[in-house]
Amino acid sequence: MEQDKEYEVTSMPRIGDAAPEFKAVTTQGDINFPADYKGSWVILFSHPADFTPVCTSEFMTFASMEEKFAEANCKLVGLSIDGLYSHIAWLRTIKEKIEYKGMKNIEVNFPLIEDITMDVAKKYGMIQPNEDTTKAVRAVFFIDPKGIIRTIIYYPLSLGRNFDELYRVIIALQAADEFDVATPADWRPGDDVIVGPAGSCGTAKDRMEDGDIDCKDWFFCTKKLDKDMVLDRVLRKK
Ligand code: BEZ
Repeated sequence: MEQDKEYEVTSMPRIGDAAPEFKAVTTQGDINFPADYKGSWVILFSHPADFTPVCTSEFMTFASMEEKFAEANCKLVGLSIDGLYSHIAWLRTIKEKIEYKGMKNIEVNFPLIEDITMDVAKKYGMIQPNEDTTKAVRAVFFIDPKGIIRTIIYYPLSLGRNFDELYRVIIALQAADEFDVATPADWRPGDDVIVGPAGSCGTAKDRMEDGDIDCKDWFFCTKKLDKDMVLDRVLRKK
C-alpha cells in the first residue's frame, strides 16, 4: 500500500454510474462520448500501447468480431495513451503485414482514441499506477444505450482478453434486460435463466408450485428461455 502514496489516485467509475463524458480525437474523427453512442451498447476498452504484440492480437480479434458485435447493437471504441499518428501507423501495419491465427488483411474500422494527455484514461480509472504509470491496463467498460456502465472488466498488461466472454457479456446483459431475468454461472443463450428472488412468502409458495418454474429451493428458481427467442430479440433479427 506504501506504493500508492506516490501517485495521485484517479477516479474509478462504478457499475450503475453514468459513463463519464469526454470529447476526443480518434482514428475515425472526433467523438463526443457517450452522447454520440446514445441508443447503442458500447464496449469502451483500453490497451497499453500501440505496436505491442498482445494488443495487436486483441485488435485483430476485436476488428474481426466487429460485425458480430454490431449485430448485437454494440459499437467498439478503443483507447491507448499514444498519439493519432502512432495509431494510424499501427493500424496500417496490422492491415498490411500481420497475419495471426488465420486473420489477415484486417482493417480496424472502429475508433481508436488518442489519449496522450491521459485525460480519458484517468476519468475511467484505466491507469493503475502500481501496474504501470504511463500505460493503460486492459479495461473493458460495457455501456448501455442510455449511457450507463453495466459491467467492468480489468485485465493486467500481460493478459490478453477472452473475446468469447466479452461477447457473452453483451448478449447476457441484453437478455437480462429484455426478459427481466438474471443469468447463472457460464450462461449462454439456450441455457435456463434465473427467476428474480421471491419478495414475499406468497410468491415463494407460488413459485414452488408453478410448473413452468424449476425451484431447487424457494430462493433458487430457474426457467427455460428459448435460444432463438433470445437471439431474435438481442440480435434484432425479428
Ligand atoms: C503487449 O501488448 O504485448 C504488451 C503491452 C504492455 C506490456 C506487456 C505486453
